[in-house]
Amino acid sequence: MKAAVYGTYGPPEVVTIRDIPKPTPKQNEVLVKVHTTLVTSGDARMRAFDIPALFRIPGRFMLGWPKPREQVLGFCFSGVVDAVGPGVTSFKPGDEVMGGKVNGAHAEYAAVPAGKGIIAKPPGLSFEAAATVAFGPTTALTFLRNAKIGPGTRLLVIGASGSVGVYAVQIGRHLGADVTAVCSGANAELVTALGASRVIDYTKQDIRKLGETFDVVFETVGSMNFVEALPLLAPTGTFATAVMAPADIWPMLWPPARKGRRIVGGEAEATNDKMTYLADLMASGALQPVIDSRYKLDTIRDAHARVDTKRKRGDILVAVS
Ligand SMILES: NC(=O)c1ccc[n+]([C@@H]2O[C@H](COP(=O)([O-])OP(=O)(O)OC[C@H]3O[C@@H](n4cnc5c(N)ncnc54)[C@H](OP(=O)(O)O)[C@@H]3O)[C@@H](O)[C@H]2O)c1
Repeated sequence: MKAAVYGTYGPPEVVTIRDIPKPTPKQNEVLVKVHTTLVTSGDARMRAFDIPALFRIPGRFMLGWPKPREQVLGFCFSGVVDAVGPGVTSFKPGDEVMGGKVNGAHAEYAAVPAGKGIIAKPPGLSFEAAATVAFGPTTALTFLRNAKIGPGTRLLVIGASGSVGVYAVQIGRHLGADVTAVCSGANAELVTALGASRVIDYTKQDIRKLGETFDVVFETVGSMNFVEALPLLAPTGTFATAVMAPADIWPMLWPPARKGRRIVGGEAEATNDKMTYLADLMASGALQPVIDSRYKLDTIRDAHARVDTKRKRGDILVAVS
């Protein structure tokens, strides 16, 4: 089968299209013929080994030293079940599915554990839309739930036009929050259409000097740490960050350093429950996929290069079959 393989860490050019053996589904695995996948900021960071200095040694253990252990990237997928391994009763060949697994979806076929990171695709949802669910929407939902968003919450989304941000604006609004979006002026129209009641252009205004506070500040691009966000936080406010800075470790561990505020960090997991909730929301039209651009598997390097600009708006899709 055709796959995008990276044999070493580096720029988009390290990714090459090669023929590799088609996986055979093992016990409790489902083999998916991939229809659409994404190149996410997570894929690009793994490819480039773009890891904060403090986490580089554990990162090497996780991803492989001196070269990547798993040489096919790709977290998100939608597609059709091609075959199932022994013990699988929840899926059968021909089922339309979607999900997120750790790696391997930048290929014509991906083997996925049957019980985790894969759900049935709602019939009303396109393969393209379904492929987006496991990354941005799942991350946004996880952090907003952990930050206890609800009706009337004053929510500031920093990085509102990125993959996590475009869904944070929509989900925040859906859960009843009043959403203020931080993005550049070029993306103001987009985030307003997605549900932001107000937009702050970070290229024109220093958001740390806004002179107002929010119940929740959701930092999706890592432009500030907890201490820098303090002037934006209400006395019992929450700082939720998808990109934890080393400086956030101390206030996380030492409650007095939080000055009455909460910090929400860590990794968002694409559980089946969350993906089902979001897929249904998307199928109903309450959540819209936001597509920056589309590529084919043969041109996946260009998709990586687009992610590396750090200017994408929403998601980058790759059509596989
Ligand atoms: N913890 C977790 O579980 C988890 C899960 C998923 C992702 N992440 C991390 O979250 C981060 C964001 O991922 P992503 O895919 O959403 O990023 P992305 O799509 O690559 O972000 C690009 C967007 O960020 C905007 N942006 C850049 N700098 C900005 C700034 N200073 N202020 C406001 N907006 C800014 C850009 O808009 P302009 O062009 O207008 O500047 C662009 O639209 C990544 O570091 C990723 O690794 C963490």
